[in-house]
Amino acid sequence: MLSGIQPTADSFHLGNYLGALRNWVPMQETHDTFYCVVDLHAITMGHDPALLRKRTRVSAAQLLAVGLDPERCTLFVQSHVPEHSQLAWVMNCLTGFGEASRMTQFKDKSAKQGADRTSVGLFTYPILQAADILLYQADAVPVGEDQRQHLELTRDLAQRFNTTFGPTFTVPAPYIIKDTAKITDLQEPTAKMSKSASTANGLVELLEEPSRIAKKIKSAVTDTGREILFDPVNKPGVSNLLTIYAALTGRTIEELVESYDGKGYGDLKKELAEVVVEFVKPIQERTRAYLDDPSQLDKLLAIGAEKARSVAAPTLASVYDRIGF
Ligand code: ADP
Ligand code: NA
Repeated sequence: MLSGIQPTADSFHLGNYLGALRNWVPMQETHDTFYCVVDLHAITMGHDPALLRKRTRVSAAQLLAVGLDPERCTLFVQSHVPEHSQLAWVMNCLTGFGEASRMTQFKDKSAKQGADRTSVGLFTYPILQAADILLYQADAVPVGEDQRQHLELTRDLAQRFNTTFGPTFTVPAPYIIKDTAKITDLQEPTAKMSKSASTANGLVELLEEPSRIAKKIKSAVTDTGREILFDPVNKPGVSNLLTIYAALTGRTIEELVESYDGKGYGDLKKELAEVVVEFVKPIQERTRAYLDDPSQLDKLLAIGAEKARSVAAPTLASVYDRIGF
């Protein structure tokens, strides 16, 4: 199984954690897992080198802090494994221009930026993503709805290569994770929580000052009425708080709703603020410990890259052989 995350923020947020990273931890036990900080993908929209370097390390440290264990998974940085770029080139040459042009995520992002400011890297992003997956012969890729089209392209490319040049790649299937929480913005509870949020107060980052987190949760936008009910359509604000509460404590939404019977939004926010703060504190401590020991972090990432290459290099060698290099 392969999964990647971009190092494009100073911290992961609660949406990233509850929607993705939290599920990566148990998958270490059930699958042969490859987890990748995708810095090659992170330069497709323009970037600052010092910031990228810092964010790559902070991302890796947070992944370790939330429970990825280099003994039980392969955790690495994409650019440390040159086979990603090498296979991506081969895959570029196998992808139709029209086929790549149909990727809706590219269309959305490039429309926002304008054609002259859109890089060709952004255009070929899903092809690099295909290379990421196929290098490890992944048979499962955890995907959200927004990544389905990219995974479909990966499958098409794998099949096309296999048919044209001989069986080489495992064709990956989407791995739908049950119970992933969709977290919404605290200030705009109908929009998803995102690092590109319009106001910072809607976003809860794993690494931010606990007192700030508490403040943000206490000032979350709630809904009219006073009853604490789970009703995402009519009460998106309260429902989002309940979703976060349930996900972080393992209690069910029903149980929570029952326990807040007769209480108000203020009680819910105050107690949730405490839950979130207690949750982030040890993650922050562990992240800091990894960042305070740069040589240890470098060592873990070097071991991860070595393990990744031991799988990626033979795949690339057989690709090169098949295509006549
Ligand atoms: P962002 O929207 O902040 O840019 P990304 O697109 O980088 O986040 O997403 C990284 C991972 O986190 C993806 O697997 C994505 O599905 C998940 N994710 C992001 N935001 C949320 C959210 N609000 N709720 C649940 N999962 C999310
Ligand atoms: Na494993």
